[in-house]
Amino acid sequence: MSDLQAPRNELRIAMVGAGTMAGAHSLALRNLRHLYPGLALHPRLVAVADINRTLAGGLAERFGYERVVTDAQAVIEADDVDLVVACLPPALNRDVVLAAAAAGKHVVSEKPLGVSAEDAVAMLRACRAAGVFHGLAAGYRWSPAVRAMAGIIQDGELGAIRSMRASFMLDYAADPDVPLLWRFRKSMAGGGIAIDTGYHLVDLARYLVGEIAHVQALSATFIAERALPSADAVGNRGGVSAAPAARQTGPVDVEDAAAALLGFSGGAYGVLETSRIAIGKRLSLQIEVYGDRGSADWDLERPDEFRVCLPGDPSTFGFRRVLVNPAHPGAAELLIGGTDGTSIGWLGQECAMWAEFLGAIAEGRPGTADFTDGVRDSAVIDALYASAATGTRTRVTLPADLG
Ligand SMILES: NC(=O)c1ccc[n+]([C@@H]2O[C@H](COP(=O)([O-])OP(=O)(O)OC[C@H]3O[C@@H](n4cnc5c(N)ncnc54)[C@H](O)[C@@H]3O)[C@@H](O)[C@H]2O)c1
Repeated sequence: MSDLQAPRNELRIAMVGAGTMAGAHSLALRNLRHLYPGLALHPRLVAVADINRTLAGGLAERFGYERVVTDAQAVIEADDVDLVVACLPPALNRDVVLAAAAAGKHVVSEKPLGVSAEDAVAMLRACRAAGVFHGLAAGYRWSPAVRAMAGIIQDGELGAIRSMRASFMLDYAADPDVPLLWRFRKSMAGGGIAIDTGYHLVDLARYLVGEIAHVQALSATFIAERALPSADAVGNRGGVSAAPAARQTGPVDVEDAAAALLGFSGGAYGVLETSRIAIGKRLSLQIEVYGDRGSADWDLERPDEFRVCLPGDPSTFGFRRVLVNPAHPGAAELLIGGTDGTSIGWLGQECAMWAEFLGAIAEGRPGTADFTDGVRDSAVIDALYASAATGTRTRVTLPADLG
């Protein structure tokens, strides 16, 4: 065995990007060995690549990456890397994924998968042709509470699903001093808040209720001009540098808020809303699902519980709060000592996602969310933008070879 071959139980990872989500993934990956000692593959953090060497160096120091580079291609092609994580602004993730697939590397991409369904299809096809694992980091699918809700829906406990409502509301963009980050530029983000947090809503709607056939949407921009950011601005408020943003400004060419009506292929309808100018909503994600027998809902501000309303005694009829417990899929490993009430939260769902991806790679099977989901999610977002632009109901169109 050469030096460049990993021990059989190790998966050597290169992180491309060193911003907010690269930190979240690294934190989860660092915890996996302790939370899931039985995993067939354990992650080894080999390299981090970012144009900002200081940021990449900081990530390496915090999480123990073995080397830091500014040229992503150098780590994508390196013999000691098995899996590449694409964690850059959306427009840049496509090239990372295509290069990784060409080099025969497994890949996990942040959402959105590229900036359009066309991008997403190219990424899916490249991974299929190379025969590599492709995971979509649609993290909320791994919340044990959301998984439990999905199980209840699949088991038919709510009956036939008639409707769903979901919202993802934030407020960082209500501050006019937040600079013109990549998130406010179509060329880098592919769109505004719809392709960003709206993507999660679409993915969860598909996960919980089913495929989406058509969309009727509208979008709005409230702050049309922002100061140019400093070179090292990251996150959604432009943190890192203490240097003031340049006085020079540039146009915001994407939406701050969007709302959509969905028609599901199965006959249900959905109502989605997402905004980054909803003052007081720091990171508020809520989902409600209504069937002909019962209902269920989840609120990210209370991530370890969900509510159900099922038929029962009229004197006690109503919503019942269910705390995530070890009987729920994916929960036991994340509850301290397997004890209900010890909290799982956002980091827990991230750990569960990575544990499942590593298990899937070891077993040669797809993960719970892959690039096929990315193509489907992106196609809905494309339809949402087309509908918002034309004011008409728009069908979701998919490439023929998706199945
Ligand atoms: N799954 C989630 O819940 C979630 C949450 C936030 C962001 N995201 C996604 O993760 C990805 C990264 O987002 P983030 O929040 O970590 O971003 P961020 O702004 O915090 O970090 C972006 C990183 O990309 C690097 N970069 C490389 N080339 C760049 C360029 N030309 N311009 C700007 N930055 C460049 C920056 O140096 C930085 O390290 C995006 O696809 C985003 O949609 C997902």
